Amino acid sequence: CKNKDYAGKKVLVTAGPTVEDIDPVRFISNHSSGKMGYSIARAARNRGAEVILITGPTDIMPPVGVKVIRVKTAQEMYDEVMKYFPNVDIAIKAAAVADYRVENVSNTKIKKSEDSFEIKLIKNKDILLEMGKIKTNQILVGFAAETNDLIQNAKLKLANKNLDMIIANDITQENSGFNYDTNTVKIIKKDGQLVQLPNMLKQELADIILNYILEIKLKR
Ligand code: PMT
Repeated sequence: CKNKDYAGKKVLVTAGPTVEDIDPVRFISNHSSGKMGYSIARAARNRGAEVILITGPTDIMPPVGVKVIRVKTAQEMYDEVMKYFPNVDIAIKAAAVADYRVENVSNTKIKKSEDSFEIKLIKNKDILLEMGKIKTNQILVGFAAETNDLIQNAKLKLANKNLDMIIANDITQENSGFNYDTNTVKIIKKDGQLVQLPNMLKQELADIILNYILEIKLKR
């Protein structure tokens, strides 16, 4: 059995996609399966942490022994995250949050008529950005799912969102990113340290991410 190096620590993890309704039958979402976030939640639990998992809709089973809070929209995820964030030691945002939602959600099924029709989208709150603004002692860890300029984009998010660490996720790599059991990432810390990791199971990667977080904690 693992050592309990996370005993006494409260860890907030977000996972999965968010879902934004268009009408009662249609929605906008993304391919996040929740595997990455659930793996982190499971690893943190195994190492003794008290874990709060705030998750969008997924098809996979959350780990036993963690507090699971289910949400659907980005706004719901924002509300729940803000409720718990002030009282945790570490927050890890693996969720793929919709950047936009439908401005006018129809209460009735939209009928097929014209050859084309437009849906107006408006910006959702950036949850991680807001967490970065209000954080006090918490260690804040984000993900960056990118198809291009991986390091550059990840470093921008690290700085702009006031993070301690970011997991740069190149989703063009083979067997990496959305829905795979494996992932290939680079870990970038606020102090500039960059760790390039090989492709591995998300469950193994989860433990490595937790190792690096603990390093930050110990330095403080
Ligand atoms: O769930 P899986 O199938 O296992 O896939 C894992 C994953 C690819 C979803 C995961 O590894 C990952 O990269 N998650 C972040 C995906 C993402 O939305 O990245 P982003 O670059 O758009 O967002 C950057 C960060 O800001 C993320 O930590 C995100 O949670 C956060 N964010 C983004 C938008 C928003 N409105 N609010 C946020 O908090």
